[in-house]
Amino acid sequence: MSGLRFDGRVVAITGAKHGMGQEHALLLAQRGAKVVVNDIAGASETVERVRAAGGIAVENNSDITDPSGTDRIVQDALDAWGRLDVVINNAAWGGGTLPDHAMVQGTLAVHLIGTINIIRSVMPIFRRQRYGRIVNTGSGSVLGIPMTGVYAAGKGGVLAHTRVLSNELAAERVTSPDLDIKVNLVMPAAQTPNMPRVPDERFQAMLDNAFAPAKVSPLVALLAHEQCPVSGEAIQAGAGRQSRFILATTEGWQAPDDEPTPENILEHWDQVMAGKDLREPVGTMSDLLGRRGEHPYSVAELIQWARSDPNNPIHSRPAEQQRLREEAAKLVE
Ligand SMILES: NC(=O)c1ccc[n+]([C@@H]2O[C@H](COP(=O)([O-])OP(=O)(O)OC[C@H]3O[C@@H](n4cnc5c(N)ncnc54)[C@H](O)[C@@H]3O)[C@@H](O)[C@H]2O)c1
Repeated sequence: MSGLRFDGRVVAITGAKHGMGQEHALLLAQRGAKVVVNDIAGASETVERVRAAGGIAVENNSDITDPSGTDRIVQDALDAWGRLDVVINNAAWGGGTLPDHAMVQGTLAVHLIGTINIIRSVMPIFRRQRYGRIVNTGSGSVLGIPMTGVYAAGKGGVLAHTRVLSNELAAERVTSPDLDIKVNLVMPAAQTPNMPRVPDERFQAMLDNAFAPAKVSPLVALLAHEQCPVSGEAIQAGAGRQSRFILATTEGWQAPDDEPTPENILEHWDQVMAGKDLREPVGTMSDLLGRRGEHPYSVAELIQWARSDPNNPIHSRPAEQQRLREEAAKLVE
């Protein structure tokens, strides 16, 4: 297979001062990409490493929680090279399960709102050029790692947003087959400067070696490339292994005459939880209907249908949309 190159492509990476973001920047630049290296804490070290390796990069210090900051990242790419092809959402901050209000807001603002901000900033460019790649960063914390509650909630939100956006783009491709925009999520594991270190030196040395941040970058590069084979997927990467992360439903229990009660659900709880006949659902209602054999429509068809129906409530909620916008704006203040 010939090498996957990024000649002529422009990439923006958020939170790339060090750690994985820096490694992503280095690998993509080595393969020909021009890179906007963003970090609110400064990213000069990454720019220097890229240039020392013969690559091309500019620094951007925008705050991604501010929509004008993500607009700036996009504008810096356009000013420098006239285009932007790839956005890699890598920035991170905050944590805790029930921290104080400011920490909750700040954590969600960086992971969830920051990711959405830059996607909103770049989408008009991607639509115009009919091409774009978005690589979001999720986390295994969504599986329930203790003490990561708000961080995990933000990452779970990014996972959900990735899948929804991808499905919407797939629906658009039904009528616009030339629209080549893909969005995926990497779920990394790496020993970055911000990770806790274990007191056992030998074990820590093994972790540092096996989970070097650079080992996540090849998957990110593939998801960022023209030949990216998927959209809407979450892929785990670390220590050399790549694997698909799947959300699945069980066969479950069907109430007689479709009439559940709390009591009969409790009585059949083992069946509700039983892990047999695992299936990857595309939505709760379509999954439940599909298991009854009663769902002839694809997600793309349903979305097209909802969009083209003038009576669909989605078209008559400008006030509600405005309220949500105001709430989101307050969140990042
Ligand atoms: N290290 C792991 O094992 C692991 C596991 C799961 C997920 N992740 C995710 O992978 C990504 C990279 O991890 P890392 O450990 O290399 O990250 P990191 O914490 O080392 O670096 C993140 C960078 O984001 C920057 N940043 C914070 N707020 C910002 C803002 N508002 N605007 C712009 N930049 C901002 C920070 O200054 C920092 O340099 C993160 O999204 C992280 O949540 C990491």
